[in-house]
Amino acid sequence: MESHLTTSWENKLSLASSEASSILVIADSNLPKSYSKEVLDICNKESPTHIISFEGGEGIKTLSHVSEVYVHLEKMGADRKSLVVCLGGGTITDMGGFAASTYKRGVSLVHLPTTVLAMVDAAIGGKTGVNTEMQENFGLLKNQIGTFYNPKMVGINHNWLQSLKEEEILSGWGEMVKHALLKGGTHLKELMKLSPKLEDLSPMLIRSARIKEAIVNRDEKEIGERASLNLGHTVGHAIESLAHDQGREMKHGVAVAWGLVFALEASVMKMGFDPTTAEELQNWIVSEILKGIEVDGADAVWSKMSQDKKNVKGNVIDVLMIAPGEVKWDFVWEREEFTILWEKFRGRYT
Ligand SMILES: NC(=O)c1ccc[n+]([C@@H]2O[C@H](COP(=O)([O-])OP(=O)(O)OC[C@H]3O[C@@H](n4cnc5c(N)ncnc54)[C@H](O)[C@@H]3O)[C@@H](O)[C@H]2O)c1
Ligand SMILES: [Zn+2]
Repeated sequence: MESHLTTSWENKLSLASSEASSILVIADSNLPKSYSKEVLDICNKESPTHIISFEGGEGIKTLSHVSEVYVHLEKMGADRKSLVVCLGGGTITDMGGFAASTYKRGVSLVHLPTTVLAMVDAAIGGKTGVNTEMQENFGLLKNQIGTFYNPKMVGINHNWLQSLKEEEILSGWGEMVKHALLKGGTHLKELMKLSPKLEDLSPMLIRSARIKEAIVNRDEKEIGERASLNLGHTVGHAIESLAHDQGREMKHGVAVAWGLVFALEASVMKMGFDPTTAEELQNWIVSEILKGIEVDGADAVWSKMSQDKKNVKGNVIDVLMIAPGEVKWDFVWEREEFTILWEKFRGRYT
């Protein structure tokens, strides 16, 4: 499949707009107004353009927000040739992408990601989704409702990251580290030389996004290799979810970075990953996260891990590495083994 990623987003957006009967820009209201103005100016030249704003965050990934988008599309008289442009982080691209993929069975879609995480991850690969809303017995279930739907383009504009908080940059960096471990070679070496600051990371963003894009293109529907993108996420999700349950702030990408540190430890024990390389990588990741980690014991983590929707038949499936760039994406944990390793890891980092 050809690449949808582009840094010449202005030209490509103009082209997509000229092919559209009408346009709806879904923008994050936390963004400086100049960003949406820039986008509206381009779209409006080619086709009648409307805008709807939502405050980005996990809370907007609901069917009621999707409904608001549908209503807006109805009111503006959208048809099957209309275009939806998502300008924001991963919550805007996930929710807006879902709305675009289902309205009249799918209208054209453009993603203009404004967070590091959305540029290298959420806007790439065609997964859209919303969460199920809070129910008494189920709580909030993430990304339970979704589609596979490719945007016409994903436009990368580094300038939009200037307003992003440092913690959001660090969170996106966690996913960039994951991509670098999956790729290995010089890409990993180059990323290791950089600090998780915007000036350093900017030139690496599109390369990181292309690593994900290449994996997805080889396995769009996650039959095999795409699962390798869950590296660091089995434990990462458990860390994130336990922190949330206890009212502690924990960014997704930071939890993933800790998940990667653990995956390296486990890869040495279970996959014969070179211990010196693993230690070098672990020291690098931990030194950049800076903050220490507060983690629970193996029982709590195991219990969260076994709720993961990717598990099959009650086994906990994880991604480990044989070496950087060489991945085993269907490793199965036994509880006892995990417990020993987790307690060792916990002892080392807390
Ligand atoms: N579809 C996929 O394949 C995929 C992959 C990874 C993550 N995701 C999803 O992505 C979401 C997380 O994305 P995110 O980290 O971008 O979160 P987000 O959309 O919540 O953005 C983070 C915060 O930054 C603000 N923000 C966004 N851009 C800004 C900018 N340029 N300047 C100032 N503030 C800005 C937002 O308003 C929000 O408060 C999750 O819901 C996750 O499930 C999806
Ligand atoms: Zn992630």
